[in-house]
Amino acid sequence: MSNPIALEPALDRMRKILTISESRLRNVILSFQEEMRRGLAGEPGSLKMLPTYIDLPTGREKGPFLALDLGGTNVRIIRVDLPGDRTVPRFLSDHFRLSRRDISTDGPVLFGAIARFIGRFLQGQGRTGPWNMGFTFSFAIRQSSIDRGELIGWTKGWTAEGVVGRDVVDLLNRALAAEGIAAVKVVSLNNDTTGTLMAGAYLDPDCDVGCILGTGTNMCYRERTSSFRKPIGHYPGEFMIVNMESGNFDAALLRTPYDALLDARSENPGLQAEEKMVSGKYLGETARLIIADLVGRGMLFGGRLPEAFAAPGEFGSERLSEIEEDPSPTAEGVRSRLKTWGIEAGGVDARALREVARAVSGRAARLAAAVLVACVTKNDPALERAHAAAVDGSLYQKYSGFRGRMEETVRELLGARAGGLRLNPVPDGSGFGAAVIAAVSSR
Ligand code: GLC
Repeated sequence: MSNPIALEPALDRMRKILTISESRLRNVILSFQEEMRRGLAGEPGSLKMLPTYIDLPTGREKGPFLALDLGGTNVRIIRVDLPGDRTVPRFLSDHFRLSRRDISTDGPVLFGAIARFIGRFLQGQGRTGPWNMGFTFSFAIRQSSIDRGELIGWTKGWTAEGVVGRDVVDLLNRALAAEGIAAVKVVSLNNDTTGTLMAGAYLDPDCDVGCILGTGTNMCYRERTSSFRKPIGHYPGEFMIVNMESGNFDAALLRTPYDALLDARSENPGLQAEEKMVSGKYLGETARLIIADLVGRGMLFGGRLPEAFAAPGEFGSERLSEIEEDPSPTAEGVRSRLKTWGIEAGGVDARALREVARAVSGRAARLAAAVLVACVTKNDPALERAHAAAVDGSLYQKYSGFRGRMEETVRELLGARAGGLRLNPVPDGSGFGAAVIAAVSSR
């Protein structure tokens, strides 16, 4: 039986446990900076602080390069003609969707599919090569130089066997050789955050942070090489980009029972705590768990869970975003949207769903802003220099109102200093940046 009278207090409680006050965000900032220091020192902690063996571009990098962008829903290949003058380059790109089988079988299946895709793309190019290619691989990699790196562990639901612990450039080269593709030389390997930062910095010299808010989330930033207390091998530069793997941040985060349930059922329990509260892969699922709970307690949909909310992982964050698109008091737009997904909702149900969506995405935007502020203020607390963060990813670019709420929180946290940190959207940054990195490293 439906119990709508109890709904309001239950929604209040839900909002309460998902709302992060300013003082809690300040705790998050302090803990995040402490974890950064630990990671640089090689002490146990939740931030890996991985060296990337690359520093910012000059903006004068020039010429044609290939970029392979792997790690989200689509694999993309891009031909980038870097103009050498800090302007947006010309792109020619193609993409294909990896199947569930591609990402969950093994290395040869995954890299074989990618190599065949590259082969098809090259056939359409007027130029036979050789091509210098930069490879964006959007997972945690232990690099020892710019052109090699072992996968530390899968995230975002990927599980292909036999790849963890292996050099992914070597796996790609083998697959290319097996397909008879000799025109491509993989000259560099990078994480998507590093790619985004390098693309952002190619266009804007103030850029010193890269941030991805998409299927997963992560940040990188520019650090003095001497700040590494852990051994990083040979690297002559004074500065280096550090891939934090910030999605794994796990201190001062207050986890709700829904977060605990989501984590326990995930492919990587106990890991990526911040990512599971913030990124696109998980927002829909968090909302679904809350909705299922409210329905189970008889407060929504007359106590019967609509089919669309029944299966774990099936209610995507894009849908949450669509629910939030309608601000009307009656939530008429939400109801008609729900109808297209086969959900018959009354006005109360529709408004409650929108409340759940707002609370889940609001928490994500606030946390994303706090860790960004933490990163930038670690080395420049008073923001004496101008900083820009290059940001890319579907959540940031497409989720209804996400960007605005994130920027609002940055202003709340930085107050009068907020002008010292700009957020620069860099669409396709992770691909374009791989070309910049290829150019810097083949200089
Ligand atoms: C996951 C990966 C990380 C990547 C991020 C965004 O957190 O571990 O390497 O940068 O997703 O794609």
